[in-house]
Amino acid sequence: MCEEGGSFGAAFFAFSMNMRNVMEMDLQSTELAFFDEDYWLSHEDYLTAEQADYDLAEILRCLGATTGRLLDAPCGTGRLSGRLSLLGFDVDGVDLDPRALAVAKGQQQGFTRQVHYVERDLRQLGGLGSYDAVISWFNSFGYFTTSENLALVQTYVSLLRPRGVLLINTLDKEVVAQVLDSGALEENMIVGGRQLSLRSELVGTRLITTRVGVGNGPDLEKRSSVELFSSSEWTAVLRELGCTEVTVMQREQPSLGDPVAEITVRAVR
Ligand SMILES: C[S@@+](CC[C@H](N)C(=O)[O-])C[C@H]1O[C@@H](n2cnc3c(N)ncnc32)[C@H](O)[C@@H]1O
Repeated sequence: MCEEGGSFGAAFFAFSMNMRNVMEMDLQSTELAFFDEDYWLSHEDYLTAEQADYDLAEILRCLGATTGRLLDAPCGTGRLSGRLSLLGFDVDGVDLDPRALAVAKGQQQGFTRQVHYVERDLRQLGGLGSYDAVISWFNSFGYFTTSENLALVQTYVSLLRPRGVLLINTLDKEVVAQVLDSGALEENMIVGGRQLSLRSELVGTRLITTRVGVGNGPDLEKRSSVELFSSSEWTAVLRELGCTEVTVMQREQPSLGDPVAEITVRAVR
């Protein structure tokens, strides 16, 4: 009996682990696939030099310094890494997308100060050394399962030197819930000869965005699933990790196109 129960239990455990692995793989592969040409096209109006300067000013206000080792993870096309490096930081930029990194590297040609770009998964940040500042900017947090997301926060904190600062620019779950209270947010745009339809909805703790792109190339449907936390959850998690100062700031001037739900979480190790 015991043995039967044990083997059923083991089989069930193996089955559920397999299912978990499949779901986790699916989560990350859909997320990565989302950052394709349609993604960058749909954000062309947002990711301007003005927006990058605006973001940079906020980062500098939060850090209160322009020197030291800084990790920008994920760094995307390096719009912040390059600027931070020119200001005096020694910057490591990590992203898993080789196309985004190629753009980032191309943009720093001829610069005297160079960002060290690394093609790597966010879940494998070990071995990069320690930092005075770690930034995760522009809704770049929450791509994984809850346990992996929490492990990533822990890694970010562990990479900080004493008194190092962690900045996470993300969306507040409770405010997003209010914004999406009356249903999904739908948006249509035409960019680069393509019609892009975006639909965002909150499913449990995750912001699910479905994007359909039609015309000028293959028709594509892509989905993004990002786990969100509330301001009080961020504070609790970071305090639990031993951070001494934890503040959550609503952005003074919500950036173009995004809802007022944008927050910047600041924590000092
Ligand atoms: C919203 S973009 C933001 C990039 C940058 N922080 C900025 O402010 O422009 C998110 C980036 O996360 C990267 N990404 C997604 N999953 C990743 C993973 N598992 N490991 C590393 N980078 C990842 C994507 O390639 C994309 O460049």
